[in-house]
Amino acid sequence: MTTIGILGAGQVGRTLARASVINGYDVVIANSRGPETLAGLVHELGPRARSAPAAEAAARADFAIIAFRYTPHDRLPVDELAGKVVLDTNNYMPGRDGIYPEVSAGHRTVHELRQEQLPTSRIAKAFSHVQHHPPLRPDTPDDALPGLFRLARPVGAPDRTALVVSSDHPDAVELVTGLYDQFGYDTVDNSPLSESWRSAPGTPMWQFSVDGQSRDELILNLRRATRPRG
Ligand SMILES: NC(=O)c1ccc[n+]([C@@H]2O[C@H](COP(=O)([O-])OP(=O)(O)OC[C@H]3O[C@@H](n4cnc5c(N)ncnc54)[C@H](OP(=O)(O)O)[C@@H]3O)[C@@H](O)[C@H]2O)c1
Repeated sequence: MTTIGILGAGQVGRTLARASVINGYDVVIANSRGPETLAGLVHELGPRARSAPAAEAAARADFAIIAFRYTPHDRLPVDELAGKVVLDTNNYMPGRDGIYPEVSAGHRTVHELRQEQLPTSRIAKAFSHVQHHPPLRPDTPDDALPGLFRLARPVGAPDRTALVVSSDHPDAVELVTGLYDQFGYDTVDNSPLSESWRSAPGTPMWQFSVDGQSRDELILNLRRATRPRG
């Protein structure tokens, strides 16, 4: 049985926890306030889920997901995540997070900075451009679902869409590819982490994050991105 440690229990953490238990994973989920504040969520997720402090969720994980924004001062369970693949769902949004000069200037990506915070883990940018909440103006009952569920399709469906992954570690890309496939998506590998700016907010692929894009469209849109030079 594979256990996923999910650090962060906001829109992304909750949605990925739900997708994970549906697909047969065990989940240990954490937020910053303590496991007791997640009792309702854990009850809703069922017997495959439990909450724990972040360090324990990291220690119990076969692989982990960080579902909160990057800051230079993040205190992360480095030792507990050592040797593990860690999915980073973050997006660099200066208007929300403040400006990180080397990222805004195009010298680094925010995911390379996350890799530096966790030097003994293998970071993969993943699940960063699908919505983990329902659209703002739902038209049909299906629209009430978070994008991650609304757009999911079985293998071979003609309208199956794709998600991007970036990593410096091929086994992390392989893990994410398998997970995407289980969750209903094709994969486009946009490695290494230094290339992950191509899937940042504001790039050509970003305008399709509500309705999704096919693998071919995503490849084309990633190629069309131009890097900010500050
Ligand atoms: N929302 C989306 O649809 C979406 C889509 C793609 C990517 N993203 C990206 O994914 C990230 C998360 O987005 P979100 O919308 O889920 O954020 P959110 O709703 O603000 O949730 C953040 C969660 O992380 C927890 N947290 C913060 N610091 C922590 C720490 N050090 N250890 C453990 N937990 C911690 C918070 O706990 P407390 O509540 O206890 O403080 C909260 O549960 C962001 O970087 C965002 O850009 C979001």
